[in-house]
Amino acid sequence: MSYDLDQFISDCRSILARDPGPAGREEVRLRLERLLGEPDFLREYCSDEAPQGLRVLYEDPKLGFQILAHINDKARVSPPHDHGASWAIYGQATKYTEMTEWERVDSGTDGRAELRPTSKYRLMPGQAGIYQDGKIHSIDYPDKARFIRVTGTNLDKIDRVRFDLKTGEVHQMTPQRAT
Ligand SMILES: [Fe+2]
Repeated sequence: MSYDLDQFISDCRSILARDPGPAGREEVRLRLERLLGEPDFLREYCSDEAPQGLRVLYEDPKLGFQILAHINDKARVSPPHDHGASWAIYGQATKYTEMTEWERVDSGTDGRAELRPTSKYRLMPGQAGIYQDGKIHSIDYPDKARFIRVTGTNLDKIDRVRFDLKTGEVHQMTPQRAT
């Protein structure tokens, strides 16, 4: 039986209304992997014919979660960053994303951060990864790597930080920084 964006939205709403915690998010992650296995969905939202760039596919008026299509043209390497008080699920549609998860190993007292990588892996098409509240990650993807992201809230409206690995500086992230 096929699975489409409307069914995914409906599933996200019922799952996250029942359980907004890590177990509910894991259910959403699995549903996203199912959606990413649907040729019709990929054609409509993630192909060369789909609208390019960053597009909000859905924002829930009650629960606040968002579903975003990142239909990237150019390769990008992001600095390590968090998603503030939110979580984020990244589901790969085309090509791949190199994911690195980090942890802070500094004392947090002098304003400079020291990060240590805790895991590194490649997210392949059809796979989705989850980054829980406050988790730090960085992404690195080639040209035409496209993904669907589900976030717990509109990330442009909350405080988030990114880290400069060379200097240890911690910067507030500005709205519309893609990821
Ligand atoms: Fe991110």
